[in-house]
Amino acid sequence: MKDNYILAFETSCDETSVAILKNGSELLCNIIASQINSHKRFGGVVPEIASRHHVEQITVCIEAALEEAEISADQLTAVAVTEGPGLNGALLVGIMAAKTFAWANHLPLIPVNHMAGHLMAASLVDTIEYPAMALLVSGGHSELVYVEKEGSYKKVGETRDDAAGEAYDKVGRVMGLTYPSGKVIDELAHKGQDTYNFPRAMMNTHEVEFSFSGLKSAFINLVHNENQKGNDVIANDLENLAASFQAAVVDVLMAKTKLAMEKYPVKTLIIGGGVSANQGLRERLSAEITDEKLIIPPLRFCGDNAGMIAAAAYIEWKKGLENVQAGLDLNAKPSLVFEDM
Ligand code: KG4
Ligand code: ZN
Repeated sequence: MKDNYILAFETSCDETSVAILKNGSELLCNIIASQINSHKRFGGVVPEIASRHHVEQITVCIEAALEEAEISADQLTAVAVTEGPGLNGALLVGIMAAKTFAWANHLPLIPVNHMAGHLMAASLVDTIEYPAMALLVSGGHSELVYVEKEGSYKKVGETRDDAAGEAYDKVGRVMGLTYPSGKVIDELAHKGQDTYNFPRAMMNTHEVEFSFSGLKSAFINLVHNENQKGNDVIANDLENLAASFQAAVVDVLMAKTKLAMEKYPVKTLIIGGGVSANQGLRERLSAEITDEKLIIPPLRFCGDNAGMIAAAAYIEWKKGLENVQAGLDLNAKPSLVFEDM
């Protein structure tokens, strides 16, 4: 059979990325141009700045990808692109680039859900046995997704308010850390103890739902109250604060993931998204998920990258191009969601 080569684009947030995947599993290149230094001073991603950087970087990334993979356009099978969810202007840059490349080279265009990408990153490192459950935790999303069979994604639970990564970044701001602060809080947490016992939201409900805004408020209130008593806890006790915050987040993620797997038994548990890089979460999962296969992707596949988009696109391609192919009228879908179960 002829080899399959998918050229994929990812520009949903602040990473411009282009990848080429061979036969669904062999990643020939995964070029990532990060803009994080341009957004740090604003304490978050500024959509207009993100779009402008994508415009500057996208052609450079395409050229780098083709060169690194030693592939020419006429060898490609299809072009894939993230259609959502994400920032509208940022998504549009990738979509325009993908459309243009596909049209110029007479290639089919496959739209991909960014969260399906985070989920299918697992397929780049291991074989997913279905049915599978995925805990997807990033800066914009926290959800549990049931994958009954390859390519069918059903949301079984999500956050009511803040995403897990958002909670890390907001608490990080109070700690005086630069954006994004998940990684640094994770490192600090490993040097401290859970001494503050922050609230674990919705632990006693039977709903597969997360909530992190109460935890964030509890954190901010504690810091203020201690400050009023003359105790600068940020200066004096940062490691224990980080450990306490992280313990609360990980407890909730673990409990709700286990609850989802009770309701929908699966053979494989996958984690994905930027927060899946969290060492505390990875350690707990490795220790406690023993009956199912556990796929924890390496750090390079946890953040946004086009390799994961190519992996999800390959699954779409297997459904038959006539069922999945988009036309040149493809538009960004900033609020794209998986259907609920
Ligand atoms: O998936 P991602 O790269 O971008 C989005 O689509 O949102 O996730 C970024 C998020 C940020 O909120 C960042 O603080 C968080 O992932 N993050 C972490 C860690 N590394 C990144 N959160 C907790 N622990 C980490 N080690
Ligand atoms: Zn993401």
